[in-house]
Amino acid sequence: MDNRPIGFLDSGVGGLTVIKEMFKQLPEEEIIFIGDQARAPYGSRPAEQIRDYTWQMVNFLLTQNVKMIVIACNTATAVAWKEIKEQLTIPVLGVVLPGASAAIKSTQLGKIGVIGTPMTVKSDIYREKIQRLAPDMQVESLSCPKFAPIVESNQMTSSVAKKVVYETLSPLVGKVDTLILGCTHYPLLKPIIQNVMGRSVKLIDSGAETVHDVSVLLNYFEINRNRKEKQVEHYFYTTASPKGFKEIAEQWMRRKITVEHIDL
Ligand code: DGL
Repeated sequence: MDNRPIGFLDSGVGGLTVIKEMFKQLPEEEIIFIGDQARAPYGSRPAEQIRDYTWQMVNFLLTQNVKMIVIACNTATAVAWKEIKEQLTIPVLGVVLPGASAAIKSTQLGKIGVIGTPMTVKSDIYREKIQRLAPDMQVESLSCPKFAPIVESNQMTSSVAKKVVYETLSPLVGKVDTLILGCTHYPLLKPIIQNVMGRSVKLIDSGAETVHDVSVLLNYFEINRNRKEKQVEHYFYTTASPKGFKEIAEQWMRRKITVEHIDL
């Protein structure tokens, strides 16, 4: 048993798609989440900067005495997961591998699409992980630089969002039977993405898949939270205004939360 919280980080609200799954799949666990909204989006930034910002969030989470860290951001996972994992003594999970495995499981035709930020697509990390596990899989990646800013500005249901998603995804339509949402912001655009790709395309939420791996690790290391302990308390931090974060978060997770501002 280990009653310390689990730390989650993202460039902004995207990581909440992982938290929503945490509340569903592992409601007994305590969560500390940090979103670096003041500097989002990360996806178009240089790798060195993404690496520095990610380490700043990791170091903040370490001051909070977390028992595990989940890098709930594909971009940060692509750039920094390996070195962070190697340097910390607590388990560190990224969101890419769980999404890659789920896509392999789901595809019938061996044709997998990946959508992500410019950095995630440039890193080619999904193709690498997928083809290392299953070399015959065809992987087609597409960069969607406008998606995360739409989510950060809470425009998910706007006509602009529909137009942007339609225009951006058109090169993938009809080409894949499984599509990895390779950015944790994208599940907030899921209804539009599904509509554009067609009902038969299976959408893989890499963040949600990651929660399954969190559960496996908690069991493996026997560090689950003791159910009999005091009520769980969750902590949410943003580097921008708590008001904007809270609005999107409460709408998405359908629950009230407290958000504090923090400078990194
Ligand atoms: N949520 C992030 C991801 O999963 C990054 C979005 C961004 O800041 O560009 O890649």
